[in-house]
Amino acid sequence: MGVSDPSSLAIAPEDICDIRIKVATDSECDKYPAKQHARRVATKLGVGDGLIYLVGTPTINWGDSDQPRPFRQRRYFYYLSGVDEADCYLTYDIRNDLLTLYVPNFSLQHAIWMGPTVTVDEARKRYDVDRVRYYAALRGDLNSWVDRYNKDSSIYILHSSQRPEISPEELRLDDESLLPAIDAAREIKDEYEIRMIRHANRISGLAHRKILEHIHNMSNESEIEGLFLDTCVSHGAKNQAYEIIAGSGPNAAVLHYVKNDEPLDGRNLVCIDAGAEWNCYASDVTRTIPLGPDWPSVHAKDIYHLVEEMQEECIRRVKAGVRFRDLHELAHVIAIKGLQRLGILNDGTVEEIRHSGASSIFFPHGLGHHVGLEVHDVSAQPITANGRQLKEFVPQMSTPLLQEGMVITIEPGVYFNKLALENAQTLPLAKYINFEKARQYIPIGGVRIEDDLLVTSTGYENLTTAPKGDEMLEILRGRGGLLERYLLSC
Ligand code: GLY
Ligand code: MN
Ligand code: MN
Repeated sequence: MGVSDPSSLAIAPEDICDIRIKVATDSECDKYPAKQHARRVATKLGVGDGLIYLVGTPTINWGDSDQPRPFRQRRYFYYLSGVDEADCYLTYDIRNDLLTLYVPNFSLQHAIWMGPTVTVDEARKRYDVDRVRYYAALRGDLNSWVDRYNKDSSIYILHSSQRPEISPEELRLDDESLLPAIDAAREIKDEYEIRMIRHANRISGLAHRKILEHIHNMSNESEIEGLFLDTCVSHGAKNQAYEIIAGSGPNAAVLHYVKNDEPLDGRNLVCIDAGAEWNCYASDVTRTIPLGPDWPSVHAKDIYHLVEEMQEECIRRVKAGVRFRDLHELAHVIAIKGLQRLGILNDGTVEEIRHSGASSIFFPHGLGHHVGLEVHDVSAQPITANGRQLKEFVPQMSTPLLQEGMVITIEPGVYFNKLALENAQTLPLAKYINFEKARQYIPIGGVRIEDDLLVTSTGYENLTTAPKGDEMLEILRGRGGLLERYLLSC
């Protein structure tokens, strides 16, 4: 596609298969809102003066190699700068509301081998900062600030390893407050950030759709990974938000399976957890798709519909003020009732089974997490308790409420992991599990369905456009796919 600036591409939501690309005009208001973020962080710090000092990701080679590691900007740096370039620094003088970006000094060698680094003039136009200076000015600027203010005001850094390299031994430094302040600021997304996450989701949606259209011609998990990547990169999303997971059959029960190299032949389902990144913002999307003519087995269909119900019931309840932990508990209750109907869980009430931990053998992860600059994004407090807390039943009140502007995933799953089941047989909760029945489901692996939701005051907006449920089945059927191949082979 002949478009010079990929960040100006916008994919209209109604364009599904044939993605339409519009060229948006480059305008001031399209700059990453770095200044607004810097002020927000200062507010979270709760101070009226001081200097925030941030170090961007440097250029680093792999160990014992002359090859650079793929560059990934430090997300805390990006949040206050919008700069996705290596070897940069940033200061924010809180009292004077002055955001200064330091870009690398010009290097002829770098320009010849890698292309020139950004100049101060270019950076001034591109980024929402007050001043841009070359790195050469950093030390002098820091010394001036220290001489003038450091006696009464702190320098805020993320980690003790990021102490500014200036001479005064006795700097007044704070290496504890900045990280939680940025975590708290990042928890609520602004309009610009939501636009990026929405766009990352559109590209992921297209890539998941392409897989549905072509799965009938694929014979190995590797082809799923290949097509997903091809679609994302071809639409300007060079980076994935996390490693692609394409687990067929029992591999679907390995939560972060990334080998993606086994044949699809004879497998019921494939669980595809894959999301593009757009301008450093993540999408996080899982679809589990049948690999047979229609539903390949009753087992596969039953578990898909159970997870679908868990997801739909939880999504329906998303809105500001809801306690996410309650949705997590609801998903467990639905899972328990469903597994009781299938005869996999038995000999206990829903409450007894939940308290025993038996449902966590089948649904071992949290219902969801924040999404933003990280796929598992930061926040003041996690929205679900960690695994240990979930087991120990930490009082519900200690987990936070959803707020308008959060972007979260809802990603229930039900899995039949052979090793997890073997281990469960040794635990007291074993009395609630019919292992003979459960083992029959091991070949299907498991089902996870995952969408990204923007929380609003009245409900939510589902940012994920990848087909699922009936729409997914229609695409599989409409293309002939495995049904056609199956019928031809009969
Ligand atoms: N893709 C990782 C997750 O769903 O959390
Ligand atoms: Mn997720
Ligand atoms: Mn995921």
